[in-house]
Amino acid sequence: MSTTPSTSNTPSTSNTPGTAASTAADLPLAGQRAVVMGGSSGIGEATAALFAADGAEVVVTGRDRDKLEAATARIGGKTTAYRLDGTDPAQIDAFFAQSGPVDHLVLALSGAAGAGPFAELDLAELETGFAAKFWPYVRILRAALPHLRADGSVTLVTAASARAAFPGTAGLAAINGALEAMVPPLAVELAPLRINAVSPGVVDTPWWNALPAEQREAVFRGFAESSPVGRIGRPGDIARALHLLATNGFVTGVVLDCTGGTTLPTGR
Ligand SMILES: NC(=O)c1ccc[n+]([C@@H]2O[C@H](COP(=O)([O-])OP(=O)(O)OC[C@H]3O[C@@H](n4cnc5c(N)ncnc54)[C@H](OP(=O)(O)O)[C@@H]3O)[C@@H](O)[C@H]2O)c1
Repeated sequence: MSTTPSTSNTPSTSNTPGTAASTAADLPLAGQRAVVMGGSSGIGEATAALFAADGAEVVVTGRDRDKLEAATARIGGKTTAYRLDGTDPAQIDAFFAQSGPVDHLVLALSGAAGAGPFAELDLAELETGFAAKFWPYVRILRAALPHLRADGSVTLVTAASARAAFPGTAGLAAINGALEAMVPPLAVELAPLRINAVSPGVVDTPWWNALPAEQREAVFRGFAESSPVGRIGRPGDIARALHLLATNGFVTGVVLDCTGGTTLPTGR
């Protein structure tokens, strides 16, 4: 894990789409700045792409330089990259020291540590899971506060495991449940800043790459078959929910399930 904030922390890519300047200024998020932590892949990247398409200036963060460069090129618009390890408080502080004002902050980072059957779960892994998601989200939000516009938004990506009772997810439930529990009190305490979360079900992203392909396909198939919508999620499904919560000025304190219905109580 790199802890070296380096010259790579300068904006790496800026692709202006071939639209006339007058058109770009008319886009709904023109003149606004969005930061997507974990924006170099999966849900975060898809979210950054929606903000960028709406004219926002977007900063995507992640640890891996190549992933950041590839993502900024795919996203286009006024997108820049900043290399940052969310588990390192000094790197978080360094980011916000140079960030300028932020209208919308999306927290979409983490790996998958903390999953597994409880009886066999290595508790050190669960601690790693908290260190990789709970604490970065909390630290980033705290560090961001002085830089967030008063009427801006913070949207957390949590996980359906927080409340779904899927076997093997007690650790993930603890991490994501702790974050979801913070949303309502923070929405009141930090108002008029709006605080929301999107709680995704299973989504086809590189988050699952730790599983062998065959096992991954089996998990995806199982969730698709048990889902009322008959499929697992795509990054864009979750991105649209995040974009909605970030941009609707009348929504705060909400945890929005975006699961294809897999978490609905069936009475079984
Ligand atoms: N995919 C799902 O089925 C699913 C379901 C429920 C919830 N979620 C949640 O959704 C969020 C996004 O996941 P995803 O599926 O989009 O995963 P992903 O495709 O693996 O993307 C994760 C992003 O976070 C960055 N990241 C990871 N650890 C980081 C760290 N320590 N510091 C900075 N950046 C870091 C990654 O870049 P680098 O690796 O280069 O740092 C990448 O940009 C996560 O919080 C995950 O728990 C996912």
